[in-house]
Amino acid sequence: ALPRDLEGLRVVVSAGGTREPLDPVRYLGNRSSGKQGYAIARVAAQRGAEVTLVAGHTAELPPPAGVDLRHVSTAAQLRDAMQERAQDADVVVMAAAVADFRPSARAEFKIKKSDDVPDPVVTLTRNPDILAELVQKRRAGQAIVGFAAETGDERGSVLDHGRAKLARKGCDLLVVNSVGEGGAFEAEDNAGWLLAADGAERPIPRGPKAQLAATLWDAVAEFMRR
Ligand code: C5P
Repeated sequence: ALPRDLEGLRVVVSAGGTREPLDPVRYLGNRSSGKQGYAIARVAAQRGAEVTLVAGHTAELPPPAGVDLRHVSTAAQLRDAMQERAQDADVVVMAAAVADFRPSARAEFKIKKSDDVPDPVVTLTRNPDILAELVQKRRAGQAIVGFAAETGDERGSVLDHGRAKLARKGCDLLVVNSVGEGGAFEAEDNAGWLLAADGAERPIPRGPKAQLAATLWDAVAEFMRR
């Protein structure tokens, strides 16, 4: 049996990908399955937390038991739902794959191909960083957890990029997934690092997404006791 060490905590978790409409039938999206965020919500509920899961678009997943599940589509809707629920949450986990950009305009009618007019050009506008905004508006004592999908490159390792992102976003904990080999998106397994703002770093061995969720909640429980 799992420990009931999250009893009394109100938790809000985001999961899945957003879709940014171009016209009534088309959108920009991403390959997020939502599996990691769902596992995080499920494990939190099993450990006694009161959990809201704000889900964007996901693979077909069973709703986690004992979790208040709400669906959103766009980054703007995800932002509204997270801001509302974060107001009285003790812990916020941003596991969603939020689109960094949206089409600058949404056409009212389906965009048609035509031999008489040039092919359309799509311009993009940057979406707000929901995680960074939540950090700015955080209540006293609230723990905020972010995710980062990184690849190692000539400028540094996955871990270097993760450390820099943790500092930039200002969250308390950051899960850094290595997305090079094996990948995290759409996969059953995950691996990486869990970085804390106080400098603590735990490796997350490759394993099922529920195992990463358990490591995450261990670190959050520790953070809340500090
Ligand atoms: O900067 P990057 O997209 O790598 O940061 C990833 C983290 O930031 C994730 O926790 C993701 O949910 C969050 N994020 C966000 N709003 C965005 C982009 C990312 O909250 N517009």
